[in-house]
Amino acid sequence: MMLSDKSRHQKPVKNSPAKTAKQILRSSAIKPQLAIVLGSGMSDFTQQVKNPTIIHYSKLAGFKKPTVTGHAGMIVTGMISDLPVITFSGRSHYYEGHSMADITFPVRVMAELGIKTVLFTNSAGAVNRTFKPGELMIIRDHINFMGDNPLRGEAHPSHQPVFVDLTNAYDPHLIRLLIQAAGRTKPRLGVYLALSGPNYETPAEIKAFRRWGADAVGMSTVPEVIVARQCGLRVAAISCITNMAAGINRTKLSHKEVLEVAGTSAHKLTNLIAHFVQLYAKQVPD
Ligand code: HPA
Repeated sequence: MMLSDKSRHQKPVKNSPAKTAKQILRSSAIKPQLAIVLGSGMSDFTQQVKNPTIIHYSKLAGFKKPTVTGHAGMIVTGMISDLPVITFSGRSHYYEGHSMADITFPVRVMAELGIKTVLFTNSAGAVNRTFKPGELMIIRDHINFMGDNPLRGEAHPSHQPVFVDLTNAYDPHLIRLLIQAAGRTKPRLGVYLALSGPNYETPAEIKAFRRWGADAVGMSTVPEVIVARQCGLRVAAISCITNMAAGINRTKLSHKEVLEVAGTSAHKLTNLIAHFVQLYAKQVPD
């Protein structure tokens, strides 16, 4: 069948972050000021949210339902330490076959919601040999080794600048707040390197990444951080170190192990985020 001239030139209809933001505000009793994105096996944190409103991703235009075990796929809005927050429990990944525009759509929704600050969490493999599974790492910088970029081409109609400055992408003030929130538990501070996945790395790759200055590797967060910075959101991020990366010890890498360690460290992460929100609530920027 020949396509008519009109249909040949029609672009697929793009979801609008503004519309989805309105949809969230209509269902929620609060207007969130802080967003928290919870990675694999970390959805327990949502229990901290008082007077929660839950919306499943399947009900939100533009959201992809995560297909990976360990990712809940819902937003929870409500209060923590008298601060209106929105948590994103589970994310979709590039390795699931979604586009960069799709996996960063929730960040554009955050910007439309009027959110100023976002805290990302993820699980990661330790490249730094001094790290241990179960420890938390505050991300101080990243290396984008995903082979793609969410700002490339016409991925979104936002007309925002694409030559985004990523110096201090991870807000130094928020890093200080996280360190203060961690108190004596002394989390690590390090550089997160993102790959597209879904396979784990080879020992040779990990050796090379260590020379580049990476402390941890993972398969998420970096595209979201890039878009968050484009939208002017302040960013903080925490990795839960779930395993030593390939070649460091003899343990075979598996998604099951990643989820188990993320699960057993969940209380640490919950405490850190809860303290962070307490401190943040006292000095919310305009
Ligand atoms: N490599 C990449 N991503 C990961 C890892 C890893 O070792 N652990 C958790 N996410």
